[in-house]
Amino acid sequence: MKMTLTNSFCFDYNGSRIASRSILLVLLCFCIFFCVDARGRTPLIEDPSPKIRNKAAECIFGNEVRELGSAWVPDLGVPIGVLYCMKCECIQIQKKRRIVAKVQCRSIKNECPEPSCAEPVLLPERCCKTCPGDTYLPDVIQDVIRHDMVDGDDKNAKHYAALLTDRSSLQLRNDNNEPIINDNKNNVIATGRFTFHKRNLYYSFYISDKAARPRTLQFVNYEGHILEEHILSDVGGHVSSRYQNATRKVCGVWKRLPKDYRKMLRDERMYVVLGWGSKEQAEFTLSAQLMKYVALGTELFSSLLEPSPGADMNLMAGSGGTAIVSISTQLSPSIHIAVVFNGLFTPEEIHQVPLNITLTFDDRKVILTEKVYVQKPATELNLVEISSPISQSDLRHLTRGKLVLSISSVSNPTILKLSGMIMTKATCELFQTPLSSSGTEGNKLGISGLAWVYLNNEGSLVYNVQVDDVNPDEKPLYITLNDMTGKKRLELEDLTPSFNNGWANGTIDKLSPKVLEPLYSGNLAVNVVVNSEMNIIRGRLTPKLVADARDASAPVLLKREDNTLPASAVGMGWFVLDNDCHLHYDVTLTGLPNSEKSLELSLKFLPMSVPGAPYSIRVLDPIQGNQLEGGTIEPLMKEELSRLDTGVVFVKIRNISTKDILLKSTLREVKVPVSCLSIQTNSLPSEGDSGEQHKSCNYDNRYYQVDERWTSVDNPCEMCFCQDGKVHCDISPCPDNPCPKGMNKTKFPGECCPVCRNATIHEDKPELLRGCVFNGKFFSVGAVFHPFLIPTGFDRCTKCECDESVVIKCARIVDNKICCNNCQPPAESENGTYVSDPSLPVVIEAPIYNKSVTKISNASQILSEGGCINSYDGSKPYKNGQTFHPYIEALGEYKCVTCTCNNGNIKCHRFECTRKMCRSRKYSNQSTQELSCCSSNFCRKRHGRRRKQNMGY
Ligand SMILES: *[C@@H]1O[C@H](CO)[C@@H](O)[C@H](O)[C@H]1NC(C)=O
Ligand SMILES: *[C@@H]1O[C@H](CO)[C@@H](O)[C@H](O)[C@H]1NC(C)=O
Ligand SMILES: *[C@@H]1O[C@H](CO)[C@@H](O)[C@H](O)[C@H]1NC(C)=O
Ligand SMILES: *[C@@H]1O[C@H](CO)[C@@H](O)[C@H](O)[C@H]1NC(C)=O
Ligand SMILES: *[C@@H]1O[C@H](CO)[C@@H](O)[C@H](O)[C@H]1NC(C)=O
Repeated sequence: MKMTLTNSFCFDYNGSRIASRSILLVLLCFCIFFCVDARGRTPLIEDPSPKIRNKAAECIFGNEVRELGSAWVPDLGVPIGVLYCMKCECIQIQKKRRIVAKVQCRSIKNECPEPSCAEPVLLPERCCKTCPGDTYLPDVIQDVIRHDMVDGDDKNAKHYAALLTDRSSLQLRNDNNEPIINDNKNNVIATGRFTFHKRNLYYSFYISDKAARPRTLQFVNYEGHILEEHILSDVGGHVSSRYQNATRKVCGVWKRLPKDYRKMLRDERMYVVLGWGSKEQAEFTLSAQLMKYVALGTELFSSLLEPSPGADMNLMAGSGGTAIVSISTQLSPSIHIAVVFNGLFTPEEIHQVPLNITLTFDDRKVILTEKVYVQKPATELNLVEISSPISQSDLRHLTRGKLVLSISSVSNPTILKLSGMIMTKATCELFQTPLSSSGTEGNKLGISGLAWVYLNNEGSLVYNVQVDDVNPDEKPLYITLNDMTGKKRLELEDLTPSFNNGWANGTIDKLSPKVLEPLYSGNLAVNVVVNSEMNIIRGRLTPKLVADARDASAPVLLKREDNTLPASAVGMGWFVLDNDCHLHYDVTLTGLPNSEKSLELSLKFLPMSVPGAPYSIRVLDPIQGNQLEGGTIEPLMKEELSRLDTGVVFVKIRNISTKDILLKSTLREVKVPVSCLSIQTNSLPSEGDSGEQHKSCNYDNRYYQVDERWTSVDNPCEMCFCQDGKVHCDISPCPDNPCPKGMNKTKFPGECCPVCRNATIHEDKPELLRGCVFNGKFFSVGAVFHPFLIPTGFDRCTKCECDESVVIKCARIVDNKICCNNCQPPAESENGTYVSDPSLPVVIEAPIYNKSVTKISNASQILSEGGCINSYDGSKPYKNGQTFHPYIEALGEYKCVTCTCNNGNIKCHRFECTRKMCRSRKYSNQSTQELSCCSSNFCRKRHGRRRKQNMGY
């Protein structure tokens, strides 16, 4: 029972991580953990029920990602530190069809060998006592796979392709181990491209036009066990990515492949599965093996080949192909086509089968036809390749997506035939650059910008160029695409006409191969000239794989915050939130001086852009070089998500050591998935925030601190204060203030109640008036008012006046019906008439009239230890247990009442006059403090009450 409880505390929803933010939880885990250990049970942290999550192939411990197979000594941070007798491992376990990772920690203390010497020693940072010369060291844990150990991008293990048809050899089973019956009625097929880059596997797919977007993607091993699973579309098959929508590609990334899986990939033992249908009702799946093909390294175009109209759909059911197309324009242009396919053979054709590959333009003109032979036809995968010269004009047709590739049986050319359009390469990529000047000299106007382009599914170039800080009624002289290959620097396209409102957005339909080649080789530059040749910004478009952050609809331009930086300093950043509420980001910087090396990316979250608004800061990552790509390991906190949704968020590039902000931007257009707005995170306040700021109040577009008070803008009689994030307001009635003869009631602007003024003198300039300031508010001489108290509002039983000598005098109101609603239960006096004590009530909850409250960290320390707010002077709260007299402005320290602060609550009591004191008051001329509290009124009352009680017995 206890064990189960522990487990549900230690692990959160995905089953592979230990709650990291709350060190308390970890603490608790280990506490109970040790208890269990002490009772001699297996010291294992078991994970009761891991829920399916997108990414399960890694462990998260603390704030770190641990790879499958790794081992480490847990460091719980302050105050516990490193537990040297504990060993944690990220192990893989199988749950039905899924292979998931989980953290398993155990004590290694009882594995310590018996020391062989008389006086073994415990070395620092170790668990076992050892003797000199000991070689078996169970407590030295080799983290087999270190974090920074990244497999170099092996050129031969970088590119993979997959052809997904019904002829896959992979037998898929459901969770109950029953074979899945595939119902691919429409003969949907797909083809994938995979790029392994920095431990991440990027994927992209072209899918039959007739199919909707698949719902899930799984990477599986040959037994069909799920290694990784991604959800690809929202309910209804939608995709929020603009790029994926415009290209009809399916794009994504599997981040941080564990070592074993990297090997599986290299050995071509990994499979990919796309699934259609809803969560409840699976429709059909397609699967394929990830294979290496040499041609992938130079692929520029791809094709998805489906049975042609007229093909025999009985013979060709569920078959298809893909082509990997490369071109070369050195010397004379040529084309290379590799076709991976199945389904073109009759059962009789088993050896040296001829096939016909043709390339046609406009369905009529045959550009190329070639006969190839398949040595040993296979049901699942066959590969044929051709190379051929190609004319410049056909190359142009190719670039513009006008060529159709067919592959057909020579024996049955019409009924066994696959064909498809040659399209932009299936890999999801875009090309981007910040636009920067070569220094301040060449950019007096200080303009900056960014650009990104990509090819859509029609082969058109979609471009977006942002140019900032250009005079609104000025147009850039020109915005061009230039070929920077060699020394040519040719201008290829003029984008100037599409410039509007800071942007040049557009599409180049009739793309020339002249643009494509420098684009893919990283030699295409965007040039912007504003005003004169003295203001040039430019950048070379760099290819980037599209996934996560670059799925955002647009990047943000990071501009100089500090004008002492050279005008060349500029950055661009992509930010996106996934459905698990993790933020992904990708930042590229350029033009910063060499001195600005140690930088970090951070976000500042505000509810709105108003003075005093509370904020929180999240430091994301340090930036190495000019490039940062990353994501949060934990989901964003609820409050951060709501700021992204409806508030204001700034992106900042700061110098780590000086904390100076170098580049900055507002983060707009980050869509917060609905699923994230309702998540429950038990979050602690983030850095840069004191917990109290969260409780401040927003009112009339301004923020007020806790216990701050203010007068309503619309109504001078209304005062408000802020407590626990809530605004409390009260409207004051005007106290009775009859004017003597010869005086008129006059109300001055900004004041709540009229004052009496000489009937013969006209005063209309209240600022010239004399007056008193009370609680930060002005009262002209003669004004009467009720003091405003926190938390009760206006004290209608106290009347204060700013008198002729410009001093505030306050007194309790007696014999007033309104006031007596708040009075103590009536006590009967001797003669039967009620007289309320005019000085003070016997118990008051909080002391009294105060100045505005200022917060000092020392004060919050006292408050956090159970101290009480001193509403007279916020910087001096009362300590827990402290006894004090309340301070009443205009009355001073009121010694007849003594208060005690007890765990944040103030309880007060009035000085108790004994009979003896009352008597001595009568008969002595002493005037001690004690005696002065025993007013005649009070003594009379006490006396009377006592007598009445006695009478009752
Ligand atoms: C997706 O693409 C279609 C056609 O290309 C377009 O009409 C639609 O507006 C796009 N949707 C989004 C969300 O970009
Ligand atoms: C290949 O097919 C094309 C068109 O389908 C046809 O024109 C050509 O003659 C065929 N070539 C061979 C060798 O069968
Ligand atoms: C250009 O595209 C960007 C990014 O999609 C968009 O924010 C901007 O409003 C567009 N500008 C114009 C003038 O269309
Ligand atoms: C009002 O002002 C006049 C002239 O200054 C003075 O004579 C008169 O006594 C004042 N009346 C009162 C009630 O103060
Ligand atoms: C005071 O009241 C009288 C009578 O209503 C009026 O005649 C006089 O002008 C008033 N004086 C001022 C200063 O408003």
